[in-house]
Amino acid sequence: MKKEVVVIGAGGHGKVIADIIKKSGDIFAGFLDDGDISGDMLLGKVEECRKYSDKWFIIAIGNNEVRAKMAESYPELKYYTAIHPSAAIGENCCIGDGSCVMANAVINPSAIVGKHCVVNTNSTVEHDCVLEDFVHISPGAILCGTVIVGNKTHIGAGAVVRNNLKITSGCTIGIGAAVVNDITETGIYVGVPAKKLVKGF
Ligand SMILES: CC(C)(COP(=O)(O)OP(=O)(O)OC[C@H]1O[C@@H](n2cnc3c(N)ncnc32)[C@H](O)[C@@H]1OP(=O)(O)O)[C@@H](O)C(=O)NCCC(=O)NCCS
Repeated sequence: MKKEVVVIGAGGHGKVIADIIKKSGDIFAGFLDDGDISGDMLLGKVEECRKYSDKWFIIAIGNNEVRAKMAESYPELKYYTAIHPSAAIGENCCIGDGSCVMANAVINPSAIVGKHCVVNTNSTVEHDCVLEDFVHISPGAILCGTVIVGNKTHIGAGAVVRNNLKITSGCTIGIGAAVVNDITETGIYVGVPAKKLVKGF
């Protein structure tokens, strides 16, 4: 049976997720958004979500902290997992509620993707990786095999993480970085090889 899905967040990320819902053969019911926007598909403000509790929901907010706060505010909603038909998902993978996997992403066997994660366009999550909850893997990023990414960590566009590494929670890895060692301290890491970004020097 087709699922009717309400998308929380009507920005660019929401537009992409609405497209995935339609391409998956489910029904895009409309957006909830607190911004000063209008449009045919705008159902109302986010606090009105409980009016639609017979439907499925997905939080289309790219920022991990904001997405996590939203999910914590509405734990009772049924969360939809959006997977673009062109994504390749290997055997024994597990993808958590509220997560989305975008066009041409590859998730190879035995990888685990937590709840409310974003595996963005053309990114690669190799075999046996573990993404904890609220992780965002940006377009074109590559996690080699058996990488563990902690809660709310953001891997920037085109970044590469060497196999068998662990990146702790709450980190941001910059665009184009190459992570070649474990990251145990929360922070922003950039460059090749990736180093902690210290501002103001
Ligand atoms: C790393 C990042 C978070 C830093 O952002 P920020 O905290 O606003 O930092 P700034 O832009 O002020 O840059 C600070 C310094 O780091 C450098 N820097 C920023 N991003 C960098 C990167 N990816 N690689 C190398 N150096 C970088 C800047 O040149 C600047 O150097 P300077 O002080 O010598 O001038 C950001 O640049 C980034 O890469 N974000 C990921 C975005 C992304 O992947 N989006 C996809 C969404 S789907």
